Amino acid sequence: MHAPVLAPSLLAGDHAHLASSARVVSEAGLSWLHLDLMDGHFVPNLTFGPETLAALRRAGCDLFFDTHLMLSAPHRYLEAFARAGSNLISIHLEPEYDHAAALAHIRTLGCQNGLVLNPDTPAAALEPFLGRIDLVLVMTVQPGFGGQAFRRDMLAKLRQIDSWRKERGLTFRLEVDGGVDLSTGRECREAGADTFVAGTSFFRATDKRAFAAAFAAL
Ligand code: DX5
Ligand code: ZN
Repeated sequence: MHAPVLAPSLLAGDHAHLASSARVVSEAGLSWLHLDLMDGHFVPNLTFGPETLAALRRAGCDLFFDTHLMLSAPHRYLEAFARAGSNLISIHLEPEYDHAAALAHIRTLGCQNGLVLNPDTPAAALEPFLGRIDLVLVMTVQPGFGGQAFRRDMLAKLRQIDSWRKERGLTFRLEVDGGVDLSTGRECREAGADTFVAGTSFFRATDKRAFAAAFAAL
């Protein structure tokens, strides 16, 4: 079982000072940063683009970039995000494109790959890809906005994916995103998750080192 990783989402940071918000993550003793890319089409919101990631790198940010592409055509932007400094690139299962080719392409670009499931997408949709992914991201809210309530009905999906992982001896990470705080994070951990995206709960925590330490002990 993987040790728990907390990946704060920069979406909940200060968008006028993103490099400072990323520094807050490093100073909490963490090594992952979750970056939410939205295209106003796959989800009804817009955030930033690859140039923002590149600028964070130029500003000295050396966190592991966990890049979550909420785009209708993610396959068109893989090179741009790899070049901008992504370490892991996750793409959604719902839009129409050649998922297998895109997942393979991410690895040839030197990044880890991840596959994301919206709440309404059943775990079974993942099955053909299980042997060729580094991470599965289970959305625990409908993607598009931070600060939404955690969907407890996603716990069964986590358990299902975790049981496949064990049965087949696979080692991909199992990540959750949306409404995750220490209490919902613990429920996800019990259901098999090992990687936790936290936007609102992380940036609102007054003692971020203690918050990070509590996740590390989940
Ligand atoms: C939602 C994004 C999340 C979001 C989580 O579409 O994918 O990463 O930032 O925010 P919280 O933790 O506030 O639910
Ligand atoms: Zn996300």
